[in-house]
Amino acid sequence: MSKAKYTVTAALPYANGPLHLGHVAGVYLPSDIFVRFLRMNDHDVAFICGSDEHGAAITLRAKKEGTTPKKIVDKYNEIIGKAFRDFDISFDIFHRTSAEIHHETAQDFFKVLDEKGHFTKETSQQYYDEEFQQFLADRYITGTCPNCGHENAYGDQCENCGTALSPTDLKDPKSTLSGKTPIMKETSHWYLPMERHEDWLKDWIQQGTLDGVQQHDPKKWRNQVVGQCMSWIDNGLRPRAMTRDLDWGVKVPVTGGDGKVLYVWLDAPIGYISATKQWAADNNKNWKDYWTGDRKLIHFIGKDNIVFHAIIFPILLKAHEGFVLPDNVPAYEFLNLEGDKFSTSRNWAVWLHEYIEAYPDKTDELKYVLTAIAPETKDSEFTWKEYQTRVNSELADILGNFVNRALVLTNKYYDGAVPEQGNVTAEDQKILDEVAAIPARMSKLVYDYKLREAQAEAMNLARLGNKYLADTEPWKLVKDEANADRVKTIMNIALQITANLSIVLKPFLPATAAKISGFLDFNVNDWNQAGASDLLAAGHGTNKPSILFQKIEDELVEKEVEKLNATKASESNFPPQKEETSFDDFTKMDIRLGKILEAEKVKKADKLLKLLVDTGIDKRTIVSGIAQHYSPEEVVGKTVTVLMNLAPRKIRGVESQGMILMAEDTEGNLSFVSPEKDFAQGGEVR
Ligand code: MF3
Ligand code: ZN
Repeated sequence: MSKAKYTVTAALPYANGPLHLGHVAGVYLPSDIFVRFLRMNDHDVAFICGSDEHGAAITLRAKKEGTTPKKIVDKYNEIIGKAFRDFDISFDIFHRTSAEIHHETAQDFFKVLDEKGHFTKETSQQYYDEEFQQFLADRYITGTCPNCGHENAYGDQCENCGTALSPTDLKDPKSTLSGKTPIMKETSHWYLPMERHEDWLKDWIQQGTLDGVQQHDPKKWRNQVVGQCMSWIDNGLRPRAMTRDLDWGVKVPVTGGDGKVLYVWLDAPIGYISATKQWAADNNKNWKDYWTGDRKLIHFIGKDNIVFHAIIFPILLKAHEGFVLPDNVPAYEFLNLEGDKFSTSRNWAVWLHEYIEAYPDKTDELKYVLTAIAPETKDSEFTWKEYQTRVNSELADILGNFVNRALVLTNKYYDGAVPEQGNVTAEDQKILDEVAAIPARMSKLVYDYKLREAQAEAMNLARLGNKYLADTEPWKLVKDEANADRVKTIMNIALQITANLSIVLKPFLPATAAKISGFLDFNVNDWNQAGASDLLAAGHGTNKPSILFQKIEDELVEKEVEKLNATKASESNFPPQKEETSFDDFTKMDIRLGKILEAEKVKKADKLLKLLVDTGIDKRTIVSGIAQHYSPEEVVGKTVTVLMNLAPRKIRGVESQGMILMAEDTEGNLSFVSPEKDFAQGGEVR
């Protein structure tokens, strides 16, 4: 039987911020391990990724940073791409959806579906921000989730409970642009009538069949993926808009599409195809080979991407015709950080590029820990303390210790040359049988997407080696010349285990595997050779080893935890303390209590109130920017704090003689500062 062929994709990260460990643990590291394993098993494989450069995630970030979407995507495509290279994620291509070939590919795809009648065009009322003159879809609108009550759900999805939403599902909707309640306005869009696809989707997801033909093994799909899909389908699929009224994105390529772009979740997955096209063109291959025929298409994603990869994209691929559907969609749950959710906007994260910069020679340590705690079936948590424990007591004490011992003793006893295996005892044979069984067990686990357990099996091999040396104690036997042959056998077996480690660790800890290979002067990339007990011939020369893993000191943990705590503290949004000032400067301010006598709105200025204030020494007019926080009626009669000797200024044609002092909370709400006791106007504030 010929080897299965694979196209493996890793979710295209939004180019709106750097990568954090949550992304790495739940998508990029597992896909990389899987692909490295496939390559060692001689599968034909393409490993595809790139940055997702459209959608509101990008335009809103640009707005926040006061720059253009183009500048944002260029900046983060660079940062993300570099972090992947430094972390040695072995994509065949890391592409981008702003590339021309992508725009063409996505437009062609849209046209084909349109011509085949897979879209409906509908006119409807949609939320519109009058101030910004923009329709509000997806992340441009937030409100309360009808499902879980989360207050900041987006117009397309609630990040808290994962439910997919439409803007009109939100309670109390607000524009993310102006913060105001939007109005309804008419617009037309292309819709994908997903309900037409319910029947085949059910069979395909639950049984793995399409028109009665077996496509994939549904038992290999994670429960979470099947569960989420079925709950969607059982709730009834609905038409979903595939276009948006925006100017950043892939232009709608058909008549009537002016001023509209493709929905980012239509364009982004097509990015996998356009990236494959680019890679194929660069490497003299035919891209179609990677998307048709007996190809296994595998999408590694986070759980918030399930419906897009297991329902919407398959509908699009099938409707277009000529594409394979995914064979599996291994979705990961979320990784938390020190007791809280990772959050790009709140900066609660360990950023991959920062980790690499701080610890350039500890990439495998991070890979190991992230795989060991990977959120495969439930959410999990990264803590620096656990990072330290796992590196020290597993990588250093078990793996590092074993490899070091085997090589140091070989160098000491035999000047580095592999000794004869000689007579294998029953005890030895048990060990060798176990060594032979581990790669096969790992293999099954990897094909089942159980990478966490697979890595644990590799560590078991190191444990086995450690135990073997501890049980046989060659360092004691060697003292008696009569044991010379026995010691040779033991050391030979220890070295064969080391050689096996250099193979089975490759997908997981490529840098470490390469180091072990270097110590052994033995480099095998073929998984099928793993398990053998004659990888190293007698007489083969080995090199002096160096330490594989340095212990992680407490200082590192403390430093990293402190860094995170500093983020927490700055999260409160309190502005930093101002520069020192003198008492003299302070006493120059004449601040007194005043009583508001009259109040009215300033015409054509929705933030301003014109107040008449009794200051004790006079009655004066003050214009104050509080109209969005207080109505004229509610301020009359209030005793407030007035800065008296501020130079008078004209505001909207009205002369303001002083200023009302206001307190502001972290959300920008304003409040008068009033005496706690019942004091009359005129009292000084010092
Ligand atoms: N950018 C999306 C996210 O981070 C993932 C896009 S995956 C693709 O959630 F398939 F659409 F490309
Ligand atoms: Zn919710």
